[in-house]
Amino acid sequence: MLGDQPPLVRSPLPGPAGQVLLDQLAQVESPAFTARRARRQERSGAAQDPIVWTEARGANVIDADGNRYVDLTSGFGVASVGHAHPRVVGAICAQAARLLHALGDLHPSTLKIELLSRLCALAPIADARAVLSLSGSDAVETALKTATLATGKPGVLAFEGAYHGLSHGPLAACGYAESFRAPFAAQLNPHVVFAPWPAHDASLRAALADVAGRLDADVGAILVEPIQGRGGVRMPPAGFLAGLADLAHEHGGLLIVDEIFTGFGRCGAMFLSAEAGVEPDLLCLGKSLGGGLPVSACVGRAEVMAAWGDPVGEAIHTGTFFGHPLGCAAALATLDVIEDEALAARTLELGEGWSRGLAALDGVRVVRGRGLMLGLELEADVLVVVRKLLERGYLTLPAGAGADVLQLVPPLNISRALLDGFVETLGEVLT
Ligand SMILES: Cc1ncc(COP(=O)(O)O)c(C=O)c1O
Repeated sequence: MLGDQPPLVRSPLPGPAGQVLLDQLAQVESPAFTARRARRQERSGAAQDPIVWTEARGANVIDADGNRYVDLTSGFGVASVGHAHPRVVGAICAQAARLLHALGDLHPSTLKIELLSRLCALAPIADARAVLSLSGSDAVETALKTATLATGKPGVLAFEGAYHGLSHGPLAACGYAESFRAPFAAQLNPHVVFAPWPAHDASLRAALADVAGRLDADVGAILVEPIQGRGGVRMPPAGFLAGLADLAHEHGGLLIVDEIFTGFGRCGAMFLSAEAGVEPDLLCLGKSLGGGLPVSACVGRAEVMAAWGDPVGEAIHTGTFFGHPLGCAAALATLDVIEDEALAARTLELGEGWSRGLAALDGVRVVRGRGLMLGLELEADVLVVVRKLLERGYLTLPAGAGADVLQLVPPLNISRALLDGFVETLGEVLT
C-alpha cells in the first residue's frame, strides 16, 4: 500500500511530465524561488533539482511522472504522522462538510476552543493561555509582541544560526544567514543582539557567560530553539536551555522557546523544553501540529499573556484565518495520533538505532541530533549527495547556511525497513 513502499524511480529526473510543469513554473513563479534552484543546480551538477509532487501518503511521495519516493524531509518537518494520515484526512473531510470558516477571535468555533484547551493542557506551562495562528512565523511574531508588551522592552537576544521564520518580526532575529536580513535591514527591529550558538561539547559555563555579556538593558526576551533545525541540527550543551531561562529571568526578561520544529515528538519527547525541566514563558509551536494544514500557536504563562490587556475594544493581534476550523480539526486529529501511537517514545528508540547505522557508514563524519531529527556531516558535498539520493528515490534536504549538513527528518511512524533501506542506499551513494 502506498505509504510504506520502497522507492521506485523509473526515469531520469525530472521525467517528461515534470519537465513540462517546471518550464511552466519558471514562467510564472517569482525569481526569488527559481534563482535559488538554479544556484543549487550548479553545485549539484544536475540539470534540474526539483520534482513535481502530485500525491503523498505516509512516508511516500509520488511525482508527476509516477515515480515513488521515500520522504525523509516530512515536507519541512510537517508530516510527523505521515502524509495524509487517514485520521487527519477523515477529520478534515468531516469538518469541511460541517463548518469551513467561523469568525475567529470574535465568534469562535467549538474546535478552536477544543484545540486551545488541548494545547494549554499539553504545553509544559502551569497556567497557560494560547493564541492560534497559521505559520511558524506567526507564532514567533505573537511571542515577540507579547514579550514586548509584558516587559516593556523592545530588544531580543537570539542566536547565530537560528531560524525562526521570515516575516519581519522573526526575520530580525533570524541568525541563520546575514543575507536573509540584509535587504530588509532598514525595516527590521534594531534592538536584536546575536550570541554565538555553542557546540554540544562546549563549556556550558562559557556559553552562558557569553550570552550574559550580551544582555543589554533593551533586551526583554531570549529567543531560542532547543536544537537548531534548519541551522544544521546543532545541539547546545546539556543544561543550556535551563541556564538561558535563569539568565532571562535574572535580567527581568522572558524565555521564548521555539519548538516549531522540535516539538510534538520529533526529537523523542513531546517537547524538549519539558524534558529539560524548563517552563518557557512563551512557547512557539507549528509545523507538524496541523498534520499538513497550516496551524501554529504561541502558548504562554497566563500572567505574561495578560500583558495584552482586557479583551475590550478592538483585538490588536488577530488574523482572518487564525483558529480556522479545518486547521483545528486537523490539529486535534494529529495530536490524537501522536498520543495514541506513542510516537515520541517510538521516535526516540527508532532514532537511536538509525543514527548508529548511519554513523557506521564510510564517508559519514558526524551524526548529530535526537529522535528523528538528524544532521549528518559528510566527506562528500552534501548537495551532490542530496541529488544522488533523489535519483535513487529518497527526498532529503541540506541544512546549515552553507548547505553542509544532510538533514534527515522522516515521518515519526515510518517503518524500520524504510529507514534500513536508506542506510544501505546512502552507503552506496557515499562510496
Ligand atoms: C524552528 C523554526 N521556527 C520557525 C519556523 C518558521 O515557520 P514557517 O516557515 O511556518 O513560518 C521554522 C521553519 O522552518 C522553524 O524551523
